[in-house]
Amino acid sequence: MKNYIKHNEWQIIEEGFDPHLNKISESIFSLGNGRMGQRANFEETYTGETLQGNYVAGVYYPDKTRVGWWKNGYPEYFAKILNATHWIGLTITINDEVLDLNTCKVLNFSRVLDMQQGTLTRKFIVELSNGNVLGVEAIRFCSIVDDEAGVIKYTITPQNFDGKITVESSLDGDVKNQDSNYDEKFWNEISAKQVGDCALLNLETKKTAFWVSSAIYTAIYQNEKDLGLKSSFISKEKYVAQQFTVDVKKDQSTTIYKFAVNLSSENYKKEDLETTTIATLKRVKAKGFNQMLAEQAKAWAVKWQNGDVIIEGDVAAQQAIRFNIFQLHQTYTGEDARLNIGPKGFTGEKYGGSTYWDTEAYCLPFYLATAPQQVAENLLIYRYKHLEKAIENAEKLGFKDGAALYPMVTINGEECHNEWEITFEEIHRNGAIAFAIFNYIRYTAEQKYLAEYGLEVLIGIARFWAQRINWSIEKEKYVMLGVTGPNEYENNVNNNWYTSTIATWCLKYTIEAIGLVKADDAKKLEQILTKTKFDTEKETSHWKDIIEKMFYPIDEKLGVFLQQDGYLDKEQILVKDLPTVDRPLNQKWSWDRILRSCFIKQADVLQGIYFFEEDYDLTTIQRNYDFYESRTVHESSLSPCVHAIIAAKLGDLDRAYEFYLRTSRLDLDDYNNDTEDGLHITSMAGTWLSVVEGFGGMRVKNNQLHLHPVLPEKWKSYAFKIGFRHTIITVKVTTEKVSLTNESEHELNLNVFGKEAHLSANGTLEINS
Ligand code: BGC
Repeated sequence: MKNYIKHNEWQIIEEGFDPHLNKISESIFSLGNGRMGQRANFEETYTGETLQGNYVAGVYYPDKTRVGWWKNGYPEYFAKILNATHWIGLTITINDEVLDLNTCKVLNFSRVLDMQQGTLTRKFIVELSNGNVLGVEAIRFCSIVDDEAGVIKYTITPQNFDGKITVESSLDGDVKNQDSNYDEKFWNEISAKQVGDCALLNLETKKTAFWVSSAIYTAIYQNEKDLGLKSSFISKEKYVAQQFTVDVKKDQSTTIYKFAVNLSSENYKKEDLETTTIATLKRVKAKGFNQMLAEQAKAWAVKWQNGDVIIEGDVAAQQAIRFNIFQLHQTYTGEDARLNIGPKGFTGEKYGGSTYWDTEAYCLPFYLATAPQQVAENLLIYRYKHLEKAIENAEKLGFKDGAALYPMVTINGEECHNEWEITFEEIHRNGAIAFAIFNYIRYTAEQKYLAEYGLEVLIGIARFWAQRINWSIEKEKYVMLGVTGPNEYENNVNNNWYTSTIATWCLKYTIEAIGLVKADDAKKLEQILTKTKFDTEKETSHWKDIIEKMFYPIDEKLGVFLQQDGYLDKEQILVKDLPTVDRPLNQKWSWDRILRSCFIKQADVLQGIYFFEEDYDLTTIQRNYDFYESRTVHESSLSPCVHAIIAAKLGDLDRAYEFYLRTSRLDLDDYNNDTEDGLHITSMAGTWLSVVEGFGGMRVKNNQLHLHPVLPEKWKSYAFKIGFRHTIITVKVTTEKVSLTNESEHELNLNVFGKEAHLSANGTLEINS
């Protein structure tokens, strides 16, 4: 765990330059706008340790699979969102010496991510080896208004010299992915040229043939006036630049404005791409830096107005929740159903920018409550569009008759994961995709989603479970063999309680969904049944038999659901008895030792209890929580949030608060020693859940919004805003009361602390805690 980020309510601040922390900071200070994103690499040359990352949403490369021992059923490739054209580059040469923070003396340095306006600012003073001292202030952002554009204002002030500065403002497409399986580069050049006062670079991905067209315009100002300097155009393979030389004087500032755009053939016809790129660049440069910044700040203000969480009395907690919300908005805006949320968003290469079950299990509830309904619907439609591929994926593994197995990792619907114990066995992901459909309808009451899209997906998933489960003559029960639960610290286990529970739930819900669609629109149901060749009688009676006779491992003596058949055969040790030097286990122990131990990576039985909470009484939840939490090492970022929610429900506010801090400051404080790989974007939605569902006790039950807010001791108050059906409600919690404000024209009957309450249109309501 690190502790170098300064606490501040609206800003993330780093003071002083420590090259060893640079890759961590490059992740933390990342920028994005849903369409493109980048790590906080420096504009100027940096020869120290860095992970360069510029990403364009939806543009991926199918990197040929690399495994030690090939197994039938493995995918041919791993899809990766690529490191794309490095558009921020400014090579600065001062009196013949290149500015490079790795080689000069850094006298002063700060980096600030301003979450109110979505900007990254760096200020530093350095001394070059030639004795020149200069100050730099660099501010940049990825515009959320013009989401294909980024802009930089880079000001240099000589402190003790007059002389010449050369600026090379570039687009560098000769980039690599550090995780490239065969050390290849993934881009080819199509063209590189000067178009008027702009420089343009068109690249194509190998194999997938995506085109990305980037263009820049650079201007040099002194005394707030454009010097009108003409650039020299430089071009080499996959590289273009505009070069300027300017005379500078001691204490006189020179400002470089750089406007850049990145457009992809995902959104435009290839034949129009270049002209649209130039037109887009001209449009944004005509706006100018100040107008773009003002628009950016205004657009972020709207996002905060709609989705801020305000915590009084605890700056570290306040900063952390805003950081999580900020990064989620930077990653996914929800306008495009072809896009999704990678576990690292646009902040690193790990996980390839691909989609995991994280989206359905963790992110969906955040977007349901904080964004227009279409955003959550687009997340579901993404999977609807991949149904055929999920059916093909199941067929590859030997399933048939329309059974669908959604991939563990994907960009376009095809499985990309290639470790058998996860690819073939971590099948609980299929359940999360069905649960998301239920969750969406439970939250929005938009049952028509079932007939339009949801039911087809549910049928595919239910068919998979019905084939994956088998009858055990010995047990006279249905069993599920050879699976990996959410706890990836044991594989190939039999009867993982969570997987079996979500599987039978899927069967029940699909039967229910068939009934619901029938009641709404019997003709539509017929069409779906014909399209899916569904034999209602035969298939549902088999499903009902499974539901009735499924085996779930339980230990009556301990009164807990068993994670899997053999769990109690393991040596039972508690995490509190593990020496600290052994943690994190995944970095300190052999994999064999981990697999044989009872230690749990993340919520497994407790994930099921979280999803299906209403099925269990409080003492059952408490017993399972006490048993499993004490064996859980929380080495997945997805773990602390689920535990925070359950701990809050059980009234253990101290633990809930501890888990909250752990999930919310996971990256800011680098808890798991892996922030340099990128931020844990999907678990950030879990952070929001731990406030709203954890402390706020928000649930949707019996077609109604329920709240049961509690206040952690460290906080004076907290407030969050949610959109629920047609209302927009702010919930503020203090020691004395819960205040509800309705900013909509619609009234709402809800339930607070177990009692019915009525919130009138535009009304307020106060309830004593
Ligand atoms: C977790 C998975 C998760 C993946 C991506 C893994 O460490 O165990 O549950 O889907 O990370 O976030």
